Amino acid sequence: MGSQWTRDAVYRKSVKEGFRARSAYKLLDINTRFNIIRRTDNVVDLGCAPGSWLQVLKTLTDGKLCGVDLNPVAPLEGVVTIMGDFTTPEVQEQVRAAMPSVNVVVCDASPHLSGAKAYDQARITALNEDALNFAATLLKQGGNLVMKSFQGTDFNELVDLVKARFYSVRVIRSSATRRGSTECYIVAKNFIGDARDDRIKPERKEEEEE
Ligand SMILES: C[S@@+](CC[C@H](N)C(=O)[O-])C[C@H]1O[C@@H](n2cnc3c(N)ncnc32)[C@H](O)[C@@H]1O
Repeated sequence: MGSQWTRDAVYRKSVKEGFRARSAYKLLDINTRFNIIRRTDNVVDLGCAPGSWLQVLKTLTDGKLCGVDLNPVAPLEGVVTIMGDFTTPEVQEQVRAAMPSVNVVVCDASPHLSGAKAYDQARITALNEDALNFAATLLKQGGNLVMKSFQGTDFNELVDLVKARFYSVRVIRSSATRRGSTECYIVAKNFIGDARDDRIKPERKEEEEE
């Protein structure tokens, strides 16, 4: 691995602590600040390879875990992993079969970037919208979503789409994100659910402003 990476303190820490990627600290940071995952939650991780978020999730919940990625993921005890594209109906069906009840969806997925800014931003937004729509079919009312995005064109429209589905939505930067990056995370809590669903609505929680 090149010198840029070996100089990175967060990367060095992740190697020392046995995480598969430095992004482990992003999820740890987000969960410490926003209490996304409770001890019994069942969690789906979209774009999970190489698996550091799954490693973190194992420490946060005793519930069921399922990760999906285009790339293979080295096995993790007690975790179901599915190789495939989570935007396709076939893979979505496999996830539903593995996870009949889902409290939290986390999504750290990002497409391969071409370097062409406008094209890349459009692909990121499209992937975010697919992840949001899929999460909305999985989550129980009151559930939570954490989704990586990048600030740019169409970002505000994306946030509005999330706000239409969750009672509490914030856009945050993780302390583990590299300086200068436009990467951010949309932290959405308390899924409104399907308006036609006659299950009792969750209580609307007032969230403190950061
Ligand atoms: C930054 S990595 C995720 C790192 C992971 N959170 C971890 O901590 O190990 C982004 C991943 O998203 C995956 N990805 C992108 N688009 C996807 C899609 N449509 N379906 C499944 N995985 C996808 C990529 O293959 C890549 O492995």
